[in-house]
Amino acid sequence: MPQLIAGNWKMNGTLAGIAAYAAALRPASPGAELLVCPPAPLIAPLRAALDGAPVALGAQDCAVKRSGAHTGDLSADLLAELGATHVILGHSERRADHAESSATVSEKARTAIAAGLVPIICVGETEAERDSGEAETVVRAQLAGSLPEELAGQTVPGVVAPGIIAYEPVWAIGTGRTPTEEDVAAMHASIRAALRRQLGAAGATMPILYGGSVKPSNAASLLALPEVGGALVGGASLKAEDFLAIASAAARD
Ligand code: PGA
Repeated sequence: MPQLIAGNWKMNGTLAGIAAYAAALRPASPGAELLVCPPAPLIAPLRAALDGAPVALGAQDCAVKRSGAHTGDLSADLLAELGATHVILGHSERRADHAESSATVSEKARTAIAAGLVPIICVGETEAERDSGEAETVVRAQLAGSLPEELAGQTVPGVVAPGIIAYEPVWAIGTGRTPTEEDVAAMHASIRAALRRQLGAAGATMPILYGGSVKPSNAASLLALPEVGGALVGGASLKAEDFLAIASAAARD
């Protein structure tokens, strides 16, 4: 399976910036799968500007419910209609800013799957949890709570994996710091074992992305680690050149 390089723009990006970003991505053929998750209102314009280029689009969150009286929430079905194929769920910024529990993330993942979206479910420990030696326990508990059982049997037409995990240590997000290669490899192995236990055969192949301060200079070494199926890239995905440099680091390995 090719590695997936997913960009998470967070609350950045403008309509005016779409054309230049798309123009930089359109001719690229990096060998890795590319996915861009802009703010939801930019999904359709970016889709149009990419003009058929093989770059998938995703959202950064969706509602638990599929429609109805939920002011301000975003329906997974509408995101799919706008051109999204993926949705990031349970990012640590949403878990922190919006008090999202793993149970809520699991419900959202079920909704996303029902709407035909591939959920990218984020897990990761805080710095205090790592320092106290609890990182793997915390991440395993997040996985146990955040993954709906549908992930064990679900297939989405045309999509290889029904779900994706992103391991993002909270203390590495936006800080320029990353765990050691040994720590990333150990955590990814632990996540793989947990996925097999929880989801059986589907858990054996589900991609596990690494996220947290991935940039062109460290991408090749992180992406070469065992069980690293790609990267979830925040800050460095905002510049098309950096995003593509990370993607070509994946292709070389
Ligand atoms: P970063 O963010 O690459 O800016 O550290 C990653 C993320 O939050 O997904």
